[in-house]
Amino acid sequence: MDQLAKLEDLPQEYRDNLEKLNLVPLWPSLRDVLPPEIPQPKTKPVFWSYEALRPLLLQAGELTPIEKAERRVLVLANPGHGLENMRASSVMYLGMQLLLPGEWAPSHRHTPNAVRMIVEGNDAYTTVDGQKCPMERGDLILTPTGMWHEHTHEGTDPVVWLDVLDLPLVYFMEASYVQPGEHQNIKGSSDETDYGPGIVPTPVFERRNSHYPMLRYAWKDARKALESMAKNQPEAKSIQITYVNPENGDDCQKIIGYSALMLRPNETLTLPLRSSAMVFHIIEGHAQVQTTNNNFDMKQSDISCVPCFAPVTFVNKNADQPTFIFIADESPVQKKLGLYSERPNNQ
Ligand SMILES: [Fe+2]
Repeated sequence: MDQLAKLEDLPQEYRDNLEKLNLVPLWPSLRDVLPPEIPQPKTKPVFWSYEALRPLLLQAGELTPIEKAERRVLVLANPGHGLENMRASSVMYLGMQLLLPGEWAPSHRHTPNAVRMIVEGNDAYTTVDGQKCPMERGDLILTPTGMWHEHTHEGTDPVVWLDVLDLPLVYFMEASYVQPGEHQNIKGSSDETDYGPGIVPTPVFERRNSHYPMLRYAWKDARKALESMAKNQPEAKSIQITYVNPENGDDCQKIIGYSALMLRPNETLTLPLRSSAMVFHIIEGHAQVQTTNNNFDMKQSDISCVPCFAPVTFVNKNADQPTFIFIADESPVQKKLGLYSERPNNQ
């Protein structure tokens, strides 16, 4: 493609006259906003060691009482976007949140969608619009846009979870805000669900209006499905499940998608190149993530992210055990906007 003229090629007087009228010439920036063939993401491949960040998170528990933090979170920020912008990618925010025994993170609701992937601890729960969702390691709990949520800890040891939000996108859209709420009365539990494997309620007399019919996806159920797949489909190229809305099979949230991948013992898996950035978190096991200029050695609870169209190869470092990886990606919003694509990875 031809090189285009630069801003400095224009006379200063002409540039000043444009600025006075709030006008900008397109051609000096055209290649930046429309790069040829492939986006030029600010998102960089980044790795966060849980072992390294955990002491700092626990220290935050000593330094800042929950009343002064509301949510005690260390944000996993991508330096490619500037740490102060608190983005893992252009769409995804990641935070590691700590709740200590006896603490309560008060009720609020906000426009960005959030999920929690529980990393460690027992006997805490999130209340979402009155539904009690126990937090056990590996569980995925949704707190979708506009739904009241608060976190309560009745156990004896620290509870830590990974928050994934579409905050960067919603903030960019100037649609991000929060409302404080009252302590919620518990009306039910996620254990008493209307849904089972292949079972949904039948709307005979009235249409159900439930965009988010399932708020907690228990790790024991997801893990069981992955293990069954691996056992029953040994020829499958990959063993992966997606967290979906059980009523319509759509992604469980509208902007970010969530899935879990099982690497069989000794397995190496190369993904196609995707137009969506991705986040990886090891629920159980040990894997290497090979991507552009980086090999991330990921142990349990570690997190990493890669930009759009990055080559990704997973290598299970366990010779005789599976490794389970939680994946968050931007494909739902990209698909809705007609922006999603895949290309072969010829590595
Ligand atoms: Fe929240």
